[in-house]
Amino acid sequence: MATTSRRLEGKVAVITGAARGIGECTAKLFAEHGAKVVIADIEDQLGQAVCEAIGSSNSIYVHCDVTNENDVKNVVDTAVATYGKLDIMFNNAAIIDPNKERIIDNEKADFEHVLSVNVTGVFLGMKHAARVMIPARTGSIISTASVCSTIVGIGSHAYTCAKHAIVGLTKNIAVELGQFGIRVNCLSPYGLATPMSTSFLSLEDEVLENMMNSFGNLKGPTLKTGDIAKAALFLVSDDAQYISGHNLLVDGGYSIVNPSFGMFKYSENP
Ligand SMILES: NC(=O)c1ccc[n+]([C@@H]2O[C@H](COP(=O)([O-])OP(=O)(O)OC[C@H]3O[C@@H](n4cnc5c(N)ncnc54)[C@H](O)[C@@H]3O)[C@@H](O)[C@H]2O)c1
Repeated sequence: MATTSRRLEGKVAVITGAARGIGECTAKLFAEHGAKVVIADIEDQLGQAVCEAIGSSNSIYVHCDVTNENDVKNVVDTAVATYGKLDIMFNNAAIIDPNKERIIDNEKADFEHVLSVNVTGVFLGMKHAARVMIPARTGSIISTASVCSTIVGIGSHAYTCAKHAIVGLTKNIAVELGQFGIRVNCLSPYGLATPMSTSFLSLEDEVLENMMNSFGNLKGPTLKTGDIAKAALFLVSDDAQYISGHNLLVDGGYSIVNPSFGMFKYSENP
């Protein structure tokens, strides 16, 4: 890649949940664009393999359970100690729980577990990123929410609640940190094939993608991890230098459609 097209030259990024899926793809793209990347995950072997693929001069792996404040503090401090600063924090790690439709069947412990990873983990990432970004008076914090942050009835109660909470946290913290020149945003993917979704639905990648394409609004392209990584790259790059407090939906318009009336449906393509 030509130097001029490298959009994160000299930047330092921490990405949680970067051992596979969206996080792995984003880590590779950020590194291609010149960033030093800290891979933070609980899947140590997978995380190390991502670093090997990127190259040891551009990346390190740090074991980090995002529910553990010491781990999150450590990953941020390790980024600063290794690369001198932290420019980008990507809170991407999450889990998904089986959808028990009836609230009366949902256990408190399961609910709290999802919220501890998907919300508290994001809160801790934002907190410790802010701790080092505030004195530097610059930085970009992004988090992965989901289309479940704006449209309901497609994820469990806990997952939907957690993804809504990420938007609230993003907006509140964007307001607090704006005075320090720190931007805070989140992005919300539609369903796509990753280890999380394929194992959750017990489907092969292609079958899951065909299913998502049939439900989706935008026909033609299939949503891939690379599309989410490119949206993340945009949000953390200088191209988005005045964007803060935003939830960037990467959903092909899925969340704005009310299909009840079936308007705009051609019986045949013209
Ligand atoms: N795949 C989809 O269809 C989809 C759609 C919308 C949003 N998302 C969101 O995208 C993000 C990435 O998901 P993905 O689809 O790549 O899933 P994935 O399961 O492939 O990746 C998630 C990563 O998070 C890590 N992780 C889980 N718990 C952790 C913890 N406590 N501490 C640190 N790391 C932990 C996992 O080890 C894994 O590497 C998540 O926030 C997810 O909710 C995914």
